[in-house]
Amino acid sequence: MPSIQQRVEEAVAAVRSGWLAAETLAAGTPPTETLAVDTPAADTQVTPAPEAILVTGSGLGSILKSVSPIVFEMSYNDIPHLPASRIAGHTGRLVIGHYGNEQGTKIVVLDGRVHGYEGHDPLTQVLPLLIANELCGGARLAVLTNAVGAINEHFAVGELMLIKDHINFSGQSLVELNSDSDFGGTNLDMSFVYTPKYRQLLVERFAQGMVLHEGTYLGVKGAMFETPAEIRAFRTWGADVVGMSTVHEATAASRLGIDLVGISVITNMAAGIEAKQLTHQEVLDNTKGAASQLGQLLHAVFTAL
Ligand code: HPA
Repeated sequence: MPSIQQRVEEAVAAVRSGWLAAETLAAGTPPTETLAVDTPAADTQVTPAPEAILVTGSGLGSILKSVSPIVFEMSYNDIPHLPASRIAGHTGRLVIGHYGNEQGTKIVVLDGRVHGYEGHDPLTQVLPLLIANELCGGARLAVLTNAVGAINEHFAVGELMLIKDHINFSGQSLVELNSDSDFGGTNLDMSFVYTPKYRQLLVERFAQGMVLHEGTYLGVKGAMFETPAEIRAFRTWGADVVGMSTVHEATAASRLGIDLVGISVITNMAAGIEAKQLTHQEVLDNTKGAASQLGQLLHAVFTAL
């Protein structure tokens, strides 16, 4: 297995040359927004570079409707080292575009995740984020969205929660001393992973207009949902919601010094709270109701950059 740096470099080179080819084709002339054709793809810059990263959670791909114009997109299948998704309908693609309109912040959207429950180690799970960060030349902000089950019984389906902190219960660790990556440092501080200033901004702006919780996300590996006993245990630990992603990406963002916003969409009450079984379909169906409120939050953070 190539080192993580090599994987990132090769993936970034492929995205940049795909972008160059697309622009050249579209314009019929040398690209306007970019890349000197005589420069090797690995060294070329997508300019102006995107400033921020947006990761879409399960069923939240409709966020892409607000990315307009899209200036480039590439399937994960065409990016070296990104594993093919094993989940139906989850191919995954990397999109570069402006949030809202042409004047909007230029962002890299990671539409699809690499999950631990698909058998991938944490470094592979954060590979899309590392690639996006490189394309930005160091992102100023990452926004992680996810679908969650609510452990906190005061929460309801369709509501949103800003992640204030997380509990990594995935059984996996991004920062390992034997890893080949730059994440191998000891003593990575995890006190301020989710940037307070963005949470404050969103709470101040939207506390009146919508139900916007703040709380703790607990990340499990999955892929099964939790047992009711696990949910009761997690509640005593102070977890408000549970999901199967986010914690390693958040750790990577923290390590890279990227400001971070985490937004959870509550798609179901966690196991045992209601007298019914949980299904993945329910999770997907219940993301839709929150889409417009999520769009408002994203608009606010990207315009605040
Ligand atoms: N548990 C874990 N992950 C989830 C859930 C859940 O209840 N809902 C959406 N993602």
